[in-house]
Amino acid sequence: METTRLPAARPPGSALEQTEHTRRAYDRHARAYDAMEWPVEALAYRRWRRALWRDVDGLDVVEIGVGTGKNIPHYPDGVRVTGVDLSEGMLSRARRVLRRHPDTEATLHLMDAQHLSLPDDAFDEAVATFVFCSVPDPVAGLREGLRVTKPGGRLRLLEHQRASLEPLGRVMDGLDGPVHRFTGVHVARRTVENVQAAGWHLDRAEPIAPFGVFRRIDAHKPL
Ligand SMILES: C[S@@+](CC[C@H](N)C(=O)[O-])C[C@H]1O[C@@H](n2cnc3c(N)ncnc32)[C@H](O)[C@@H]1O
Repeated sequence: METTRLPAARPPGSALEQTEHTRRAYDRHARAYDAMEWPVEALAYRRWRRALWRDVDGLDVVEIGVGTGKNIPHYPDGVRVTGVDLSEGMLSRARRVLRRHPDTEATLHLMDAQHLSLPDDAFDEAVATFVFCSVPDPVAGLREGLRVTKPGGRLRLLEHQRASLEPLGRVMDGLDGPVHRFTGVHVARRTVENVQAAGWHLDRAEPIAPFGVFRRIDAHKPL
């Protein structure tokens, strides 16, 4: 019997066009972003961020996708953070937050996570919160995070991803395209699998909300 191969469910366009789509979406939403996120931030995200940054014990940390700088108030004392983001609109908000925390040792850079202009093996830890749902090629971004992290160094993520429970997972598959076109966000990513596909050794992928949609993911770079 002949089988027909269906095209992959991804938006049309080259990698460059997809990255530009994401950049434009975040530039467009930057001004309203904090207000739109406020309810989830107050209900859960802030608590999850605090717990994640409590675990960070490396000296040199890269934060991928700093966004409007919501993690900046949680950076531990004595840690040097290199923050990167694709969107100048989001970064300009993060710069304002950084100015309100003058004792924080951090630098912020406009940079694509899929092609980091950072040296190999430079950081003790890589952190990202709610980012790999948006990076157009998440495995490429996670691979770049791995490259710039020292052997034995840590990856710490907060992410939402495709529900492990059906039929919710299939509903999220159906919503993924339309949501992405409007917001730049993918709601049905398989981030735990992507972390492993990028070469990280998975230590933890704990659901932190019902149906496995939100997860705290920890991994390390093999020695
Ligand atoms: C949902 S926001 C999360 C922002 C922030 N980490 C937080 O926790 O509030 C996703 C962020 O990832 C950034 N982003 C998406 N694709 C990226 C890429 N290829 N390289 C760097 N940043 C990217 C977006 O610009 C946006 O600021």
